[in-house]
Amino acid sequence: MIDDARPTGSRAPGATGPAAAPPATAVPGSAPAAPTSPADLPPAALREAIATELLAARTRTAALTDCVEDHDLTAQHSPLMSPLVWDLAHIGNQEELWLLRNIGGREPMRPEIDPLYDAFEHPRAERPSLPLLPPAEARAYAHDVRGRVLDLLEASPLEGTPLLDAGFAFGMIAQHEQQHDETMLITHQLRRGEPALAAPPPPPAPADAAALPADVLVPAGPFTMGTDTEPWALDNERPAHRVDLPAFRLDTTPVTNGAYLRFIADGGYDDPRWWTAAGWEHRQRAELSAPLFWHREGGQWLRRRFASVEPVPENEPVLHVSWYEADAYARWAGRRLPTEAEWEKAARYDPATDRSRRYPWGDGPPGPEHANLGQRHLRPAPAGSYPAGRSPYGVRQLMGDVWEWTASDLDPYPGFRAWPYKEYSEVFFGPEYKVLRGGCFAVAPVACRGTFRNWDYPIRRQIFAGFRTAADVAVD
Ligand SMILES: [Fe+2]
Repeated sequence: MIDDARPTGSRAPGATGPAAAPPATAVPGSAPAAPTSPADLPPAALREAIATELLAARTRTAALTDCVEDHDLTAQHSPLMSPLVWDLAHIGNQEELWLLRNIGGREPMRPEIDPLYDAFEHPRAERPSLPLLPPAEARAYAHDVRGRVLDLLEASPLEGTPLLDAGFAFGMIAQHEQQHDETMLITHQLRRGEPALAAPPPPPAPADAAALPADVLVPAGPFTMGTDTEPWALDNERPAHRVDLPAFRLDTTPVTNGAYLRFIADGGYDDPRWWTAAGWEHRQRAELSAPLFWHREGGQWLRRRFASVEPVPENEPVLHVSWYEADAYARWAGRRLPTEAEWEKAARYDPATDRSRRYPWGDGPPGPEHANLGQRHLRPAPAGSYPAGRSPYGVRQLMGDVWEWTASDLDPYPGFRAWPYKEYSEVFFGPEYKVLRGGCFAVAPVACRGTFRNWDYPIRRQIFAGFRTAADVAVD
């Protein structure tokens, strides 16, 4: 769920009280905090790193909201989304709640607006009818909050309480703003009208992409899933725990548009054999016949991408498919979706050292050579890109490009403790939501890591989601 609901908490029990510390038990095979991890920085450098992340998020928020006229900010471009101006003020409101009030102990700046920006109080479809702050006022409010937050940061010891340790609450707020920036980018994708955004295309596929094996073998054995050491990890990523998996195979790259076109051409949307009962029912009711934003014209498949229409590129990972479609494709291909644990083992486990890394390529933060992240490009990169970002098993594009649907429901890890409060993740646990992993081109590096868990309804298609497939390995 990307994301109105994390963090919220103006009314949440425990949001203003002392929070339980995240578990800190060391689990064998855990990634140690890397030198660039916030946990390892001296206070002055940590302050600077936090300020940099907050600024990066705000720069992106401004780019996403300054590129259209006010009427585009206040309009609702889809009942699935908030007006952009709601996201803008909600970002400021959550920053005020968590940092100025909870940490700084300040009085509310504008208590009368809190209910308007409480994601639990008003569903998205309702928000255009609320007396929201107009664009100029929303910008001024968020700017005012940010100024006070930077003063608070300057004076904060960044230790002494679980919310302050390693700057957790500041990191949470930077992630929250970036998650809303991703949400706003989805709104831009749904918006009709003249193109408002621009970015260079990703580089072409590397020379070895055509020769990559279709899939890789991940041998049986235990690995450490989740984290105790990632300082800005959210509660659902904790605690680290050992998981023993049978051997499996996993696609080297996400499933491409070209492969997905073969599923369509083979009648995949018309054959109930490939669909779960719920998936087939939804496929019929919603009249699904291709990924969202695709249409056919004169025998050619086209797609709408940020207000432009273009031919569907066959070598790019497929985007805007629901879990039901991903699951049906996998069955048609004689395979299945990977479980969340399989995805994480393939992404993080290094058999040479018997430990789990922070990222597929190691413990260092994502760079432009590792993954397509941060809205640097407005599309996924061709399948096989980013060889420097591959995992020890040789799997590519696990981070960035497209969120990847997994077979798993959103469930707590053994030993899970809700933190900072239960509305953060716990209320979403259960079979209603499927887990997505890996981030997409719209996810910022600060909100992306090997342990990060996203979730959404299996019918959801407007998110930047694709998938890759897995297969069992026969035991002799
Ligand atoms: Fe939010």
